[in-house]
Amino acid sequence: MATTLAFDVYGTLIDTHGIVAALEGLVGERAKAFSNSWRDKQLEYSFRKGLMQNYENFAVCTSQALNYTCALYGADLNEEQKTELMEIYRVLPPFDDVIEGLKRLKKAGYRLFAFSNGAGEALEKLLNNAGVRDQFLGVVSVDDIKSFKPNPAVYSHFLRKSGSTGGEAWLISSNPFDVIGAISAGMKSAWVRRSPDAIFDPWGFEPTITVSSIIDLERSICQN
Ligand code: 2OP
Repeated sequence: MATTLAFDVYGTLIDTHGIVAALEGLVGERAKAFSNSWRDKQLEYSFRKGLMQNYENFAVCTSQALNYTCALYGADLNEEQKTELMEIYRVLPPFDDVIEGLKRLKKAGYRLFAFSNGAGEALEKLLNNAGVRDQFLGVVSVDDIKSFKPNPAVYSHFLRKSGSTGGEAWLISSNPFDVIGAISAGMKSAWVRRSPDAIFDPWGFEPTITVSSIIDLERSICQN
C-alpha cells in the first residue's frame, strides 16, 4: 500500500500567527508576543484537559487561552472583539509552501490525511478556506476519542481511521511535542523546521527526518 502521511494542522499547515495583524489593532506592538502566549496557553490547556480526562474541544481551549492571555497582558477586550478574533482563528492562512507541497506529494502517490487536535467542522472550514481540503483522503480529529495529542491513543486512532500501520505511516508536524508523541507511539515522523530558530525538545527522541518546508518533504521522505 502507498505510504500514509498524517499532516498536523495548526502550526504546520496553518499559520497560527496569522492572527498577529488583527491583534496589532488591539494590543499594538505586543501583538506577536500576545500571539505566542495565546498559542502556548492553548496547547497547555489541551495537555492538561487531556491528562485530567476532562475533555473539552480545541475551540474551548483556544477561547479560554484568549481570556487568560488578555488577563496576562492587561488587554481589556470586549466580547465583540474576542468573538471577532475567534472568527479570524477559524480562517487562518496556510504557510506559503503548503499548497504546492501537498500537490506534489499527492501527485507522487502518497495517501494524505489531515490529523489534528481541532474538531471536525472547524477543521473542514479551516482547510477549505486555505484551499487544501481536496488534497486529503480524509480529516481525522482527536475529537472522535475525546483526548488530545500527545496521548498515544490519538495516534492509534489515526492509524485505525486511515487504515494504515505505524511502520508505514508518517506524522508530519512543526510541533516537536507532536513529532515526539508520534514516534513514541510507533509512527515515523518528519519535523517541519521552517525557521532555524525552532528548537527540538532534548528528550533523546529524534525526528525520522527534518525538512525546512513541505515542498522538501517528497525528496527526503522517499529516501526513508
Ligand atoms: C494540531 O493538532 C497540535 O495544534 C496542533 O493541529
